[in-house]
Amino acid sequence: MSHDKHQAFYDSLAAEWDLMFTAEDFERLSHLVEGMGIDKGWHILDIGCGTGVLFDLLRRKIGPDGTITGVDFSLRMATRAHRNFPFENVNVVDADATNLPFKPDTFDMAVSFSSFDNFSDPKKALAEAHRVLRSGAQLCIIYLASSKELSEEHKRAGGLLADDHLPPREKMAELFSLSNFKTVRIEDHPGLYLACAVTNK
Ligand SMILES: C[S@@+](CC[C@H](N)C(=O)[O-])C[C@H]1O[C@@H](n2cnc3c(N)ncnc32)[C@H](O)[C@@H]1O
Repeated sequence: MSHDKHQAFYDSLAAEWDLMFTAEDFERLSHLVEGMGIDKGWHILDIGCGTGVLFDLLRRKIGPDGTITGVDFSLRMATRAHRNFPFENVNVVDADATNLPFKPDTFDMAVSFSSFDNFSDPKKALAEAHRVLRSGAQLCIIYLASSKELSEEHKRAGGLLADDHLPPREKMAELFSLSNFKTVRIEDHPGLYLACAVTNK
């Protein structure tokens, strides 16, 4: 288990985390999830899941035969997610995105909402996502802000987050291809950063 400072930072925010989201956020997330082509019965991995903000939207798409596996290295976030979604087809694991405790080719899709900029080793996190996804499966990195907006927000917040940035479009495309992802699609404009790619194996 990593000793990244983000762990303690997010532990300290877990109790209040769910209060951050507005009905508008959920509406926009719902729209994004609708467009991801998720099928009934899929096994979906949510990397840096926090308290499970995406779980309900994903559960509606996968139905009772699918599963959601959330991963977060903040034990308090993971515990909240587990408490928020005590369903048979939802599992939450306290683990690091750069060292996922899953076998190769386990998941039909992976999502990561508002977390990728926090990962200490984004290349390793992408390589791990690639490893645990099945052939032809998609990873989507989602933010309700552009890379520029996120950097500005972090600069204002200061402290630990001040140095966390999202890779600009070309850099993100390069990171994806270094980890063997293909069919890269990146949107980076006010209100949205959406970077999706498909495994090549
Ligand atoms: C900004 S929060 C987003 C949480 C959730 N996805 C949401 O949008 O509400 C970032 C989350 O990523 C987690 N995180 C950061 N680095 C991580 C890593 N290396 N492995 C696993 N989780 C990580 C943090 O603990 C935190 O819960």
